[in-house]
Amino acid sequence: MATMRAAAIRRFGPESEIGVEELPIPEPGEGQLLLRLSYAGIGSWDAFEREGGYASMLGTRASFPYILGSQGAGLVVEAGRGADRLKPGDPVCATGFLNPKGGFYAEYAVVDEELGLPIPRGYSRLEAAAVLGAGLTALRGLSDALRLRPGETLCVLGASGGVGHLAVQLAAAMGARVVALASGEDGVALASACGAYLALDGKGPDPLDELRARGIASFDKLLLLAGGSLAEELCRMTRPEGAAAFPAGIAPEPDPSAFPGALRFYGEPDREISGRLLAAIEAGGIRPHVDRVFELEELPAAHRLLRGHHLGAMAARTARDSPRG
Ligand SMILES: NC(=O)c1ccc[n+]([C@@H]2O[C@H](COP(=O)([O-])OP(=O)(O)OC[C@H]3O[C@@H](n4cnc5c(N)ncnc54)[C@H](OP(=O)(O)O)[C@@H]3O)[C@@H](O)[C@H]2O)c1
Repeated sequence: MATMRAAAIRRFGPESEIGVEELPIPEPGEGQLLLRLSYAGIGSWDAFEREGGYASMLGTRASFPYILGSQGAGLVVEAGRGADRLKPGDPVCATGFLNPKGGFYAEYAVVDEELGLPIPRGYSRLEAAAVLGAGLTALRGLSDALRLRPGETLCVLGASGGVGHLAVQLAAAMGARVVALASGEDGVALASACGAYLALDGKGPDPLDELRARGIASFDKLLLLAGGSLAEELCRMTRPEGAAAFPAGIAPEPDPSAFPGALRFYGEPDREISGRLLAAIEAGGIRPHVDRVFELEELPAAHRLLRGHHLGAMAARTARDSPRG
């Protein structure tokens, strides 16, 4: 049986459970593609998967060894029956949340063809590996939940994180005036580079006073990518005829009494939104900032970093012949 290197867990638990193993290469079934991955994107939600959070939330039984990771990029090496949109040799990126035949922290993964996309024009495989999960979530939030319109003022809390830095770029490309609350000086620099009209440190001494000092007393729309008391204050600054939204899982989720209409959404992938994201990326020059690239053996350290300060996206090098990034 052909095998591959993969970072897997033998049981749910802390970062130290992740280890590199030789595991069987999965086989594509009907409508599926076998990808040889160059890189896997590391999502903030991968930690919740590692801890068994999704398995207990959804009541599913996991089988071990369990390969983590829900997005990546590489080449199609085999197409299953009925998969005829993408063909062997095509460079692709793909998502596969809780991917049934194993995650993306591996040399190979099998994905539904529906969730595969050509690599965006001008992107490296590294960028393509890191853009989909966070980009789809950002677009779902801005476009589907908030219905953001040109000329509106949008506040993004968590603007220097994985979803946030892409949300700032997408919203600016949609013609919104983006007020970014980022984390730390480096986060403020990243949010500014992403096209924010105003970027401030949301972890500074008094971000609300700073906003008011800059003449910002309210917003049309609010995208929350972090929870807590600042999130609730920002909900109160959102115009009653406006809208606030947050992806399920931000911690803590806002108290509905702070903004009763706050919309909870999911970054669910499907072919339709993937197509919209690809178009938005190519038209707007949207690019992920990949802050760090880890080897498969370094994934425990990458997961530890997810708990601390990090900027933009992170990725793992899954093929030894891929550039280190
Ligand atoms: N349900 C879904 O479909 C879905 C999909 C994707 C993401 N999510 C959730 O959405 C959230 C964001 O995802 P992500 O991938 O962007 O996570 P992330 O990369 O960890 O980004 C969150 C960002 O918020 C920043 N932050 C926290 N408090 C802040 C404050 N007071 N002011 C300014 N910035 C602050 C963090 O800074 P530090 O790093 O310095 O702490 C971090 O940069 C997560 O909770 C994730 O679980 C849900």
